[in-house]
Amino acid sequence: MNLELTETQTLIRDTARKFAKERVAPRARTIDREEYFPTELFKELGEVGLLGVNIPARYGGSEAGVVSYALAMMEVSAACASTSVAMAVTNMCAELINAYGTDAQREKFVTKLASGEAIVGSFALSEPHAGSDPGALLTSAVRKGDKWVLNGSKQWITSGAYAGVMVVWARTSPAGNKGLSAFIVEGGTKGLIIGKHEDKMGLRASNTVSLTFEDCEIPADQILGKEGDGFKLAMVALDGGRIGIASQACGVARAALDASVRYTKDRKAFGQAVAEFQAPRFMMADMKVQLAAAELLTFRAAHLKENGKPFTREASMAKLYASEMANRVCDKAVQLHGGYGYIDEFPVERYFRDARVQTIYEGTSEIQRMVIARETFKLFS
Ligand code: CAA
Ligand code: FAD
Repeated sequence: MNLELTETQTLIRDTARKFAKERVAPRARTIDREEYFPTELFKELGEVGLLGVNIPARYGGSEAGVVSYALAMMEVSAACASTSVAMAVTNMCAELINAYGTDAQREKFVTKLASGEAIVGSFALSEPHAGSDPGALLTSAVRKGDKWVLNGSKQWITSGAYAGVMVVWARTSPAGNKGLSAFIVEGGTKGLIIGKHEDKMGLRASNTVSLTFEDCEIPADQILGKEGDGFKLAMVALDGGRIGIASQACGVARAALDASVRYTKDRKAFGQAVAEFQAPRFMMADMKVQLAAAELLTFRAAHLKENGKPFTREASMAKLYASEMANRVCDKAVQLHGGYGYIDEFPVERYFRDARVQTIYEGTSEIQRMVIARETFKLFS
């Protein structure tokens, strides 16, 4: 694995860094406070190529690969994790449709997602009673003539109220994991009802809603992949999605460490800068080492995916370590700020709140350990 960035990767990172600094960071605190979903920002993210980083140019993507995607996610996440989670889910939906869709589906839906025309995408897998265990989901899809008719409820759907294109999982037969299929549903389809917006601890500018499908009819050709292949499609998408969330964790942790360095250099106690005491310096040294380890795990998983190698275990390792690292690093960042770390005048309290969900969504830490153990044991069977 080459640790030097290619020209394309450097370009994507610098584009994302500039965009994050100029367009995302200045509004991050306000949109968090006001729980405002920045629709206009996603149109711009589409214009600069960040909603389809690993999507072919012919469908409006940047065709820049998975490492570039990880780099872009890190930059936007360092500015605002609420914005980056919607960016992550949009890229994830676009990649899934690109990988498993028909030419017509790619033409219509991948292009809409990558360009920002769809605003964002949503990934509707979890249900009120089935999060870690999506094989138990109950939403049904029944074929009637040239339509599929969806009925049921989804829970925790990121960007659900704003998404122009959603990938929705539903049961097409009672056969457990093998009875699931994936469907493309457009925002505004009759019978798709947007539920209550969740009042969250963090990611407050991200939209999280329940969805209800009441005799929601979609054209028969909006099934994604083959009937019964839905569980596999979800797993494949989540493998890639976990690289996105690992990158998000790295971005948020980096922002927390940078803020801590700046603050402790400035803040005086006992007649000297806090940064001159050994205890805070050692704390920041440990934060830096853990961050670097998480970045390397994330880039390794991204590199494997980019090169068509198996990466399921490596993506879970990156997601597990990076999300737990971000929680530790953000906790220390609050500590290093003293009382000022606990108020919203400084950004570290937001980083701390935003990091918390990273060990929960896209598979909890316990689920990542199950995947890592399963894949490790496979090597010995
Ligand atoms: N790639 C391809 N196929 C896979 C796979 C993968 N990564 N993982 C499993 N499969 C296949 C298996 O090979 C198996 O196939 P066969 O039946 O043909 O042998 C089949 O899928 C079933 O596999 P398991 O028996 O391992 O399935 P399981 O029911 O035990 O579940 C699990 C495994 C890893 C726990 C899985 O259910 C899981 O990942 N759960 C977590 C769900 C999750 O992460 N949800 C996130 C929702 S999206 C989100 O959260 C977005 C956001 O926040 C922004
Ligand atoms: P449960 O599955 O009920 O788990 C509860 C606890 O039990 C956890 O600690 C878990 O690790 C543990 N547990 C469960 N099974 C096992 C086991 N076999 N072994 C050991 N421990 C176990 N979902 C989507 O589909 N799309 C989205 O866009 C989306 N966005 C989200 C955004 C936010 C802000 C949040 C909070 C969630 C989002 N989710 C989304 C859902 C998320 O993926 C689930 O919350 C997550 O997978 C956990 O499922 P659960 O909440 O049902 O918890």
